[in-house]
Amino acid sequence: MFAIIGGTGLTSLNNLEIVHRQVVRTPYGDPSGPLTLGRIAGRDIAFLARHGYGHTYAPHRINYRANLWALQHVGVREVISVASVGGIQAQYAPGSLVIPHQIIDYTWGRVSTFFEGEEDPVTHIDFTLPFTPALRERLIRAAQKAGEPVIDGAVYACTQGPRLETAAEIDRLERDGANVVGMTAMPEAALARELGLAYAAINVVANYAAGRGADASEISFTEIEATLSETMARVRHVLEAFAAQ
Ligand code: HPA
Repeated sequence: MFAIIGGTGLTSLNNLEIVHRQVVRTPYGDPSGPLTLGRIAGRDIAFLARHGYGHTYAPHRINYRANLWALQHVGVREVISVASVGGIQAQYAPGSLVIPHQIIDYTWGRVSTFFEGEEDPVTHIDFTLPFTPALRERLIRAAQKAGEPVIDGAVYACTQGPRLETAAEIDRLERDGANVVGMTAMPEAALARELGLAYAAINVVANYAAGRGADASEISFTEIEATLSETMARVRHVLEAFAAQ
């Protein structure tokens, strides 16, 4: 079974036929909410709103471990993350859909491993390719089938938030080689890898990152909301094509 973790702008899926909601308790505390189990295009899926159904958890407060553990507990083997990002270069324009292939982690102080108990042996996972290549390919094929253009490949910079970045910080991320910036891929992607779950993401560019775009002096939250509500319909379309594969 596959799961969709929905981010800002995607707290529900209107093409999801809901079968039931399941509260899962985990050794790591509570997930962001009950899991929604249902079907899209006849395929069983699990859905979880990353920030909670009422958008209550800021990116650094999300219990990423509980979320992934709960999904695995109900039989999930593959996770598609939907997350909004800021675009750093002009081609990552607001409204674009992006399937990132790399991550740079700028977060701090987040619980970022399952292997930290006194008795747990230290375990180092390979993370050369943080997004599962085969799952990325299937997402890209689904987008092609759905007729939705996506950008294949981006370096995702994960910042701590919840504030947006300064213009100088975005300049630094660009020098580091980043293309899009968001707040939630880490530790989510690494924890998925620790559990042996396949993980890929579809990023929705909500805005130009700080200091970029036509109005380089400020980021408009009204515009972000408008872009997200338009673009999430396209994401739903891609997810439906993914489920139908
Ligand atoms: N920065 C970080 N995270 C984001 C942004 C941004 O500009 N837009 C949407 N998520």
